[in-house]
Amino acid sequence: MSEPRKILVTSALPYANGSIHLGHMLEYIQTDMWVRFQKHRGNQCIYVCADDAHGSAIMLRAEKEGITPEQLIANVQAEHSADFAEFLVDFDNFHSTHAEENRELSSQIYLKLRDAGHIATRSITQYFDPEKKMFLADRFIKGTCPKCGTEDQYGDNCEKCGATYAPTDLKDPKSAISGATPVLKDSQHFFFKLPDFQEMLQAWTRSGTLQEAVANKIAEWLDAGLQQWDISRDAPYFGFEIPDEPGKYFYVWLDAPIGYMASFKNLCARRPDLDFDAFWGKDSTAELYHFIGKDIVNFHALFWPAMLEGAGFRKPTGINVHGYLTVNGQKMSKSRGTFVKARTYLDHLSPEYLRYYYAAKLGRGVDDLDLNLEDFVQKVNSDLVGKVVNIASRCAGFIHKGNAGVLVAGNAAPELTDAFLAAAPSIADAYEARDFARAMREIMGLADRANAWIADKAPWSLNKQEGKQDEVQAICALGINLFRQLVIFLKPVLPLLAADAEAFLNVAPLTWNDHATLLSNHQLNEFKPLMTRIDPVKVQAMTDASKEDLTASATDTGEAAPVGNGELAKDPLSPEIEFDTFAAVDLRVALILKAEAVEGADKLLRLTLDIGDEQRNVFSGIKSAYPDPSKLNGRLTMMIANLKPRKMKFGISEGMVMAAGPGGEEIYLLSPDSGAKPGQRIK
Ligand code: 2FM
Ligand code: ZN
Repeated sequence: MSEPRKILVTSALPYANGSIHLGHMLEYIQTDMWVRFQKHRGNQCIYVCADDAHGSAIMLRAEKEGITPEQLIANVQAEHSADFAEFLVDFDNFHSTHAEENRELSSQIYLKLRDAGHIATRSITQYFDPEKKMFLADRFIKGTCPKCGTEDQYGDNCEKCGATYAPTDLKDPKSAISGATPVLKDSQHFFFKLPDFQEMLQAWTRSGTLQEAVANKIAEWLDAGLQQWDISRDAPYFGFEIPDEPGKYFYVWLDAPIGYMASFKNLCARRPDLDFDAFWGKDSTAELYHFIGKDIVNFHALFWPAMLEGAGFRKPTGINVHGYLTVNGQKMSKSRGTFVKARTYLDHLSPEYLRYYYAAKLGRGVDDLDLNLEDFVQKVNSDLVGKVVNIASRCAGFIHKGNAGVLVAGNAAPELTDAFLAAAPSIADAYEARDFARAMREIMGLADRANAWIADKAPWSLNKQEGKQDEVQAICALGINLFRQLVIFLKPVLPLLAADAEAFLNVAPLTWNDHATLLSNHQLNEFKPLMTRIDPVKVQAMTDASKEDLTASATDTGEAAPVGNGELAKDPLSPEIEFDTFAAVDLRVALILKAEAVEGADKLLRLTLDIGDEQRNVFSGIKSAYPDPSKLNGRLTMMIANLKPRKMKFGISEGMVMAAGPGGEEIYLLSPDSGAKPGQRIK
């Protein structure tokens, strides 16, 4: 037996200002399956992560919510941790970049780089918000596109014509934070001299550390010549102050990857068996892998190895890059309900369905992965329920009824067990290479063979024949053994199914090497259904609930769907409609009988409305403007009474009340003039 490998693995650190969605989960599930595979094989594999807690976006969001950044990141960390745990993503440590270990390591790395001459300083000119008294990052400046004249475009590119430009090129620039006209101002910035590492990077990026497509992309950047990297930001900023430079902070992307080290260091403090230097020291023999999405390759394959090299640490063994998630062939979309938060998924479906589907579609490349919701239902039901679990449910009953739950000794089909044994190295290679799709294909091929063999032997027919009971027991004992092998192979993907199967099989937690043995003369426990089929209604409920998330948050914040991981912000907001369409809307005066907060919903009020001939229950995302809902009691407003009822997490909403305003405290519920009566129609 070879020595167990020592492996440290990370996933990208999620920003501490938003919820985890199914796009994020692709990476965490991919990494977790790989880590679980390594542990299953007996290697020492440590998986660390953290929330990425710094930066102006987090500072501004906390300000908007009226809480400190520390409170915001603590709330988000609790939410993220719960989401990951329920998706069975088993971090050895989930830390935060806003932590003492990270402050120390960031300072240490910076000082090493500075003292070795890898830091430059110079003054740069940037837009400054004179009201907020802060420099503005490009995305916090809006103005008119210098090329096509479209208004309200961000400081770095135009969504209409696709032009890219400097914020100073925008016409009529405004601060997106205060609305003030920004002024140009100089300040001293600190730069990491990336070109010092050109040669090292040229060699390192071609030494098997990167997938070929990624290495080729990086080669383009290297050929074009590297630039110095601006690593400082001016106060006010939520982050770490740069040593010896009051009022200057590390840019969030400087201390984010150092967060990998900090999370590991934090773990070392409670795991005496782990030695920080053995993993991060220059002479470390441990392996180090970062799993990331293709959008952040430059940070991980250029800046990060250069920082590590310059500060005297080891460099990563590999950067494992994956593509983006699409849903039903398109970018995730809030209006289509395919921008699904981790929590919304978990409210409706089991995590293992998604883990399996991702595994079945994840290769080792950087291609995007499509979550096709129909295919998802079909594949999970057919493979996991129809093939794998089916073997156990077909065989268990005969063993319990015919032999008191004891598996007889012997091997009814050595050619089949040999085939399973022979397939194991190839399945292991596929896992090792992160070719989960191939691993799943090979495992399902084995499941097909097992099912075909059982179907051919038809123990259910034999069982009705005189004197065939021993044969039935032999067939079913092998069936259960083959099921056990499949569970061993699938355990990195389906840890819950494996735990339930171990309970049924009455065995200690299975490890990879157990595939080489068979159970014989072995007592089983009671068989309980191990997995149920996905009901497509639940998938529909999940996408419906995702649409509702948008209704609540758009009303609440006054923001359009954010650009970024989701859809483009430009859905047609106000297309023209025919008069008939308008006339079909039943607009009525409604009397608010009762307005109350909804437990578990940050943004919603539950309104009981009198609309003349009946009462209606309506959920409305207006809580931010009416913190004391009882003040609305007895007030008249306007409602759309013939809107199709919508099932929401908290109940059915039977219509919609009408409000205007940008959001937050500025939401204004419409009212008719005095004298209007509940139920009167507006036509
Ligand atoms: O892109 C992101 O979501 C970043 N928060 C990832 C950081 S990964 C690491 F370098 F910290
Ligand atoms: Zn333009």
